[in-house]
Amino acid sequence: MSETENTNHLGKVIAVCSAKGGIGRTLISVNLAVALNKKNLNICIVDGDLQFGDISLAMDLQPSFTIKDVVDEIDQLDAGGVGSYLTDHSSGVKVLSAPDRPEYAELVTGNVLAKTVRILQQQFDYVIVDNGIGIQDQTVDLIEHSDQILMVTNLEMTALKNTKLMLETLGQLGIRDKVRLVINRYNMESLIEADEVPKMLGENKGIYIPNNFKLASQSLNLGIPFVISQSKSDLSKAIFKMAEGLTSKDSTFQATKKKSILPNIFSSKAKG
Ligand SMILES: Nc1ncnc2c1ncn2[C@@H]1O[C@H](COP(=O)(O)OP(=O)(O)O)[C@@H](O)[C@H]1O
Ligand SMILES: [Mg+2]
Repeated sequence: MSETENTNHLGKVIAVCSAKGGIGRTLISVNLAVALNKKNLNICIVDGDLQFGDISLAMDLQPSFTIKDVVDEIDQLDAGGVGSYLTDHSSGVKVLSAPDRPEYAELVTGNVLAKTVRILQQQFDYVIVDNGIGIQDQTVDLIEHSDQILMVTNLEMTALKNTKLMLETLGQLGIRDKVRLVINRYNMESLIEADEVPKMLGENKGIYIPNNFKLASQSLNLGIPFVISQSKSDLSKAIFKMAEGLTSKDSTFQATKKKSILPNIFSSKAKG
């Protein structure tokens, strides 16, 4: 796929979500993006954690532009236009960074986010969106129209409780079938066994990512994705396996895949 505009091509959107912060969303988004890129796919990450996005930091990037700069241009924006706001990572992955100050977050409306991602879908094979914590006004449309939702949890009781609630909300939105449950740090010390988690949360299965604090924190602090620096590590193997699973044929969601960004779910519900 070339990165020029192609309206027939619509790449897939992977929404990386969690009900709680500090759970591994950034780590997983960044490493999954690089792992997919290694499969010769064109990958873009959108940092939709609009207040405290740290994708740039996790990839050691100094963005000249962020999604805040897209806001003023949104009505005129086309594929070429969005491209100029992206930052290149040495792996080939492109990044649309979060605003550099939390007070700018509210400028980035759900409409801006959804339209931007929609344009990026024309250029990239996969657009990975780090959606911040929970389901917010700004991200709900995007989550609803994504192709796959990676719901990241760990074995902590508070994470599990909130993940269960968020999964129920995704069910109410009618998009629960897009969920892939990601159990991060599955072998951390806990009263709860990792293989009990899918059942506890009403899911059939999970994607298991091992606990490796040294490598995870080193990777985030240095800004070098571990799938590059430590490609044979347990963490990397799990991410490569996840990338394989997500791109396999049976991971597509034909039944629920919609091609247009519809109005906000809450307002469309209100209209009855
Ligand atoms: N699989 C893992 N093993 C060990 N530590 C992890 C793992 N995933 C994440 N962490 C640690 O958890 C913290 C939060 O990760 P981060 O990706 O920033 O979470 P989020 O984006 O959800 O806030 C970091 O200190 C990171 O090193
Ligand atoms: Mg984060």
